[in-house]
Amino acid sequence: MGFVPQVSSAPAGAPSVSPRRALPGSAFLAAARGERPARVPVWFMRQAGRSLPEYRALREGVPMLDACFDPEMLAEITMQPVRRLGVDAAILFSDIVVPLKAAGVDIDIVPGTGPVVASPVRDAAAVRALPKLEPEQVGQVAEGVRLLVERLGETPLIGFAGAPFTLASYLIEGGPSRNHEHTKALMHSQPEVWHDLAARLADIAATFLRAQLEAGVDAVQLFDSWAGALSERDYREFVLPHSSRVLAVAGEYGVPRIHFGVGTGELLGAMREAGADVVGVDWRIPLDVAVQRLGGNVAVQGNLDPALLYASWPVLEAEVRRIVEEGRAARGHVFNLGHGVLPSVDPEVLKRVVDLVHSL
Ligand code: CP3
Repeated sequence: MGFVPQVSSAPAGAPSVSPRRALPGSAFLAAARGERPARVPVWFMRQAGRSLPEYRALREGVPMLDACFDPEMLAEITMQPVRRLGVDAAILFSDIVVPLKAAGVDIDIVPGTGPVVASPVRDAAAVRALPKLEPEQVGQVAEGVRLLVERLGETPLIGFAGAPFTLASYLIEGGPSRNHEHTKALMHSQPEVWHDLAARLADIAATFLRAQLEAGVDAVQLFDSWAGALSERDYREFVLPHSSRVLAVAGEYGVPRIHFGVGTGELLGAMREAGADVVGVDWRIPLDVAVQRLGGNVAVQGNLDPALLYASWPVLEAEVRRIVEEGRAARGHVFNLGHGVLPSVDPEVLKRVVDLVHSL
């Protein structure tokens, strides 16, 4: 897939960056490049979070977004699951709305709810008023990444951004939404306003990723968590070109790019076409079926149902074994959940899953 690990492969005009770590022993990077390392690598979406008592202790009295702009705190929270669980990758502790907040959008994260926007963006004037993100505005995140690159040793660090559709849904709906009705209505009734908004969000996501890449992240994941709400036709027309532009920026740095959404069984091919090296798969379809839908010769990430972490060990063990087996159909397989760790999960169970995957 044309993966070249050296930064020097970036096209002329690309920003100069400190030399990227090589990490030749990383099973995660190998699998993400479509190789078959000696063991299946594993990490968990939302591995840093409320399921860990050390996370709850550190976050006590600190609002989520304050934690995300504190380099020492975000670095420490990122390290916690690596120490406790022995996962094969760290994911930067941040949030998809961090670049919006940094740019000056009035947005907050309400515990138990998610991102909430003071004034929903629903017309051309509101879209035009959306601020741009300057790289300095996410300087604390970049500083956190630099601390992590020093402290993580051989463990690769995954950076991330929210994709234009998922970000747009929060901005347009004003908060989490089941039906995305205002978003879909805007998209179809005022397509030029939609495309203007999505293009601006693509710029913001790209600037956020660039800041992380220049500070040294080893891979990136584009979270289009809610894209599964769209038909493939709408995804291709209204979303793919914008997400593609964000993924192209990461492509300049030669790092593996993971593209993830929930309920995207019908969109997998299109999400790959957007420029992914690894396609994230939720639990709704088996990995071997996903590989078929993707047209083969691709790396996948997934796809244990997060709810099954509450099942008895024999049930969970059988599921993990099945997923590792089905993952052999892919060119590379990164074991993960189909979506994030739920806050009440027992971290001992996560640890047991890591050890089992490594033993298979
Ligand atoms: O995966 C990781 O460990 C890295 C950290 C991470 C967070 N958010 C931390 C977080 C990542 C990758 C995200 C991305 C994110 N944020 C997505 C895409 C991934 C997905 O889950 O689909 C989305 C949709 C959001 C928006 C968001 N932020 C939601 C829905 C919530 C949960 C609200 C709640 O309280 O249940 C947040 C807040 C958030 N982001 C928390 C964490 C650890 C919980 C805040 C807390 O601990 O108080």
